[in-house]
Amino acid sequence: MTAKRIALLPGDGIGPEIAAAARRLLERLGDFEFSEHLVGGGSIDAHGTALTDDVLDACRGADAVLLGAVGGPRWETTDPNAPRPEQGLLGLRKGLGLYANLRPVRPSPALVDSSPLRPERIKGTDLLVVRELTGGIYFGDSGREGDSAHDTCEYSGGEIERIARVAFEAAERRAADQGRSPRVTSVDKANVLETSRLWRETVERVAGDHPAVELDHMLVDNAAMQLVSDPTRFDVLLTENMFGDILSDESAMLTGSLGMLPSASLGASTPGLFEPVHGSAPDIAGQGVANPLATFLSAAMMLRHGLDRAEQATAIEVAVDSALERGLRTPDLVGGAPPAVDTPAAPGPNEVGTEAMTDAVIEALAA
Ligand code: IPM
Ligand code: MG
Repeated sequence: MTAKRIALLPGDGIGPEIAAAARRLLERLGDFEFSEHLVGGGSIDAHGTALTDDVLDACRGADAVLLGAVGGPRWETTDPNAPRPEQGLLGLRKGLGLYANLRPVRPSPALVDSSPLRPERIKGTDLLVVRELTGGIYFGDSGREGDSAHDTCEYSGGEIERIARVAFEAAERRAADQGRSPRVTSVDKANVLETSRLWRETVERVAGDHPAVELDHMLVDNAAMQLVSDPTRFDVLLTENMFGDILSDESAMLTGSLGMLPSASLGASTPGLFEPVHGSAPDIAGQGVANPLATFLSAAMMLRHGLDRAEQATAIEVAVDSALERGLRTPDLVGGAPPAVDTPAAPGPNEVGTEAMTDAVIEALAA
């Protein structure tokens, strides 16, 4: 096997800690060539922009892009003309043509008690959010005129069709793997929005090419409610860009922590971009306590969807489960009520930081 070239973009906040952990894990697995680049706030500080053309070119030339997280209070601003870290991520998605965002939500059996939801409610949850990533209100015309502002949500039939195909194909693949029938739930706000009515029509048309897939349409407000009241009813959840942003954070809590959810962003050609769904968590940055597991699981998605190394992907997923089964928990996974104000927060017996969690996963890999 020739070495795969990975563009590693650690980013801001806890990004560098979890990216370094993922690099250490991948280096134990095999032959990867890493190049590291600035994106987000760090790039704003160095170059005045969240994504330089050089970094975008370096990503284009890699086999896959692995990203930590971007953003932080240091760059928080409401000035429409000031650069923002998030523009780095959006620029990468647009610049690499990554229109399909896959966010699988599968609570690890060891973590059912970490979710704020009752275990019997989330047990058996296994869903995939397929989020459109380069259109909609994120990329429409926007602006400020005196005392008013606007953001435009626009979708073409072609943009909807290609993401719908991704969702139906993913549903067929998952169903075949699990020996059950496939289902797609398409989320929209067709009772109000014109883009949603075009979305619904287009999804119906694509469904015609996938007769084995059961399709239902759900309004986004109802979907938000069903996700917490009856998460096991979902298989593939197909959404436009902003609805997917919101529903995927909500779904993440079904796994016990936002610190567990990985994602893959794919386009018509390589490279894909792989990143944890959680943000840069500036409040815990630099303390060595960040949960690296979503980044490890994102690295697994990179191996499976971006680098054609499914066996190594499975090895990482099994190793993550095994570290959790041993009882190891980063602080975000330690559930229960927060300590009373004057009780010092005593760490649980198996509470570990980023490094010990990484060691445990690497150990499990070797076993
Ligand atoms: C996500 C994030 C991003 C988004 C931000 C950081 C721009 O929340 O990947 O879900 O809104 O897409
Ligand atoms: Mg988000």
